[in-house]
Amino acid sequence: MAEIKYRTELGGVDWAQMKETLAADDFDNGRTPEQLRESFEASYAAVVAHDGEKIVGTARALSDGVCNAYVIDVWTLSPYRRRGIARRMLETLEASLEGQHVYLFTEDVPDFYKRLGFKEHPTGMSKVVGAWLRKEA
Ligand SMILES: CC(C)(COP(=O)(O)OP(=O)(O)OC[C@H]1O[C@@H](n2cnc3c(N)ncnc32)[C@H](O)[C@@H]1OP(=O)(O)O)[C@@H](O)C(=O)NCCC(=O)NCCS
Repeated sequence: MAEIKYRTELGGVDWAQMKETLAADDFDNGRTPEQLRESFEASYAAVVAHDGEKIVGTARALSDGVCNAYVIDVWTLSPYRRRGIARRMLETLEASLEGQHVYLFTEDVPDFYKRLGFKEHPTGMSKVVGAWLRKEA
């Protein structure tokens, strides 16, 4: 494995490759490559980790730029886990979130986020408005 690069400029990202890689790693939530691009580009901050041209990690944050942010799409490709990639991606996002309250939801890996300084909150609430993901006609 070459040195991992943490890209925050999204211009060169191969969204079709991201979709394929997420699906193969069982972390696909149904977005098309175009919807992946839209959601990452509309984020306040985003990072895509690359090993050469291969996508090996993602993370992004939504934010009002003042006080509240929400972190999502935190993922490291399975063979690359436990080498500090997700920690580095979160640190990269946090560099642009100084002073803000950062919220996230996790069912599976609360202990991972605790390692990064997050604390559990007792009640999170959510709903999907309409059906999941807009489907273009
Ligand atoms: C959770 C995930 C992003 C961690 O990625 P990673 O690149 O392996 O994480 P790192 O190597 O940067 O680990 C950072 C710290 O968390 C710890 N950690 C990593 N995975 C962990 C896990 N599953 N449970 C508990 N601790 C974990 C590491 O030991 C490390 O601790 P340290 O730096 O204090 O020694 C990765 O396992 C993943 O993509 N999982 C599937 C997708 C997912 O569940 N994403 C979260 C959605 S809410």
